[in-house]
Amino acid sequence: MTELSEAGVTVGRPDDVAHRREPMLTVDNVSKDYSAGRRTLAQRLRRAPDQRTVVHAVNGVGLTVDRGEVLGILGPNGAGKSTLVRIIATLLTPTSGSVRLCGVDVLAQPRQARRHLGVMLAGDRGVYWKLTGRENLEYFAALHFVPRDQIRRRVDEALAEVRLTDSANDYVERYSTGMRQRLCLARALIHQPEVLLLDEPTSGLDPVSAVEFRRLVRGLRGRGAAVLITTHDLAEAEDLCDRIAILDHGTVAFQGDVPEALTLVPGASVLALEAECGTRDPAEVADWLIQHYDAGLVEQHERTVRARLYCESASDLMDEVSAALRAEGLKPVRTEATRVSLTDVFFSITDHGRTGGGR
Ligand SMILES: Nc1ncnc2c1ncn2[C@@H]1O[C@H](COP(=O)(O)OP(=O)(O)O)[C@@H](O)[C@H]1O
Ligand SMILES: [Mg+2]
Repeated sequence: MTELSEAGVTVGRPDDVAHRREPMLTVDNVSKDYSAGRRTLAQRLRRAPDQRTVVHAVNGVGLTVDRGEVLGILGPNGAGKSTLVRIIATLLTPTSGSVRLCGVDVLAQPRQARRHLGVMLAGDRGVYWKLTGRENLEYFAALHFVPRDQIRRRVDEALAEVRLTDSANDYVERYSTGMRQRLCLARALIHQPEVLLLDEPTSGLDPVSAVEFRRLVRGLRGRGAAVLITTHDLAEAEDLCDRIAILDHGTVAFQGDVPEALTLVPGASVLALEAECGTRDPAEVADWLIQHYDAGLVEQHERTVRARLYCESASDLMDEVSAALRAEGLKPVRTEATRVSLTDVFFSITDHGRTGGGR
């Protein structure tokens, strides 16, 4: 095992990072079934038939994350992201499959695995509000077996890393949401783990705090950590992740880098349009668009329809579409040529393209 260096989670020489592919985390064919519904004691005693159904939350998932890499797990609600994170974090036992982390079999040696692992769960409340930021970190450092004579230094480093040095002695209950999230990240970093699992770390953060958070994650990657991050924010994934995996109904629908993902969308550009429906039913207009064009995300609103149309050249298509809309008795209120984004990939892969109302 490479020795951890003085500051942060630096492992190995930074110039090694770019050249070597070194898997730090390997998830192999992992599945997790939950049983949905309840079976009460009375039902058991009566020997009533078991009416619980099985939910295949994660279904044969395989992933790798290399040293110095950020892998983004994207997927709609209920796709199985948190379940997967909990399995890797040794908090849930999978129904089948295996997970290796820094050469350790996570299922066989969970304690050993946890030494290499820093975890931030979704909506992480895992810090004590009645303690100060510093006291929290000292406590978690001790829990993670950071040697006593190093705790002070590690806590100072972690506080500096997440820029909480000035608020270190304030009670956590007085922290803002962004500060609390950063403290949770510091907690995950306190034992200098080589692998980080971050489950929706930026949800609930304002845009400025989210940018700041991403800057931190980039810094960790730069120093050789392997980061697995789940997010709903597709722009964030595009900005931050070296590779992405799109999870849908528990299976990996795509795994690769962002440019590769973008090629999955038909056409090279996108015409984003919004049309007023006048007397026509928006649902009918949405159908018409889907029938006549290569339409991705189509949102129906009360009186308008918004759509993203895939094409070779949006500027060429613009006039034609505007004319066709007018001929249908619709009023185009916005037509704009944009580039293909991860949002388009996401909707085309996960088949959630048709929505009743936009965000
Ligand atoms: N403890 C549980 N018992 C039963 N079903 C669960 C449990 N936790 C999650 N699920 C179900 O598993 C699926 C995946 O959930 P989850 O991993 O939380 O998805 P995500 O994090 O992508 O939103 C969902 O259908 C959810 O309802
Ligand atoms: Mg989740």
